[in-house]
Amino acid sequence: MKALILFGSTTGNTEYTAEVVQEVLDKNKVETTLLNAVDASLEVMEKDFGLFVFGCSTWGDDDIELQEDFEPLYEGMDKVSFDGKLVATFGCGDSTYTHFCGAVDAITEKAQAGGAKIDVSPLKIDGDPDDVRDEIEDWAQKVADLAKAA
Ligand SMILES: Cc1cc2nc3c(=O)[nH]c(=O)nc-3n(C[C@H](O)[C@H](O)[C@H](O)COP(=O)(O)O)c2cc1C
Repeated sequence: MKALILFGSTTGNTEYTAEVVQEVLDKNKVETTLLNAVDASLEVMEKDFGLFVFGCSTWGDDDIELQEDFEPLYEGMDKVSFDGKLVATFGCGDSTYTHFCGAVDAITEKAQAGGAKIDVSPLKIDGDPDDVRDEIEDWAQKVADLAKAA
């Protein structure tokens, strides 16, 4: 199965997480493409990937704001069909904010509305992802197992 790991990250935390996810998927022989949202357009979501792993940090204060590079992709996701595709979502945030990792919830909901199969709980990281590298690896292993079973 081919997997796209698409992430939006401002200070590098979600990018770090995406790289750990890629390492684990690679070890499991899942073919990955790692793409920063700043370099992506919506068409990439229509390409021939069986698994989409979306990562996005959360900004804003009272409202949920997606990381700025991911935002235009999120807006366009209404038009994308994820029928028959596996989707997994993750992101970094800070639990002192009202909407902890709200961007992850928003992306998950939109992918689900587009028909995605979401069989692994979203991964929400509170603080520095390097402190929870094991947790990221365990989550990515679950994603890899789903990809291999599909
Ligand atoms: C102005 C500002 C607003 C933020 N808003 C939220 C928020 O609403 N929810 C949340 O979980 N984290 C929030 N954060 C925390 C960031 O999402 C967190 O620092 C994250 O690790 C950044 O990830 P990135 O480096 O991948 O962009 C905010 C941080 C700042 C500086």
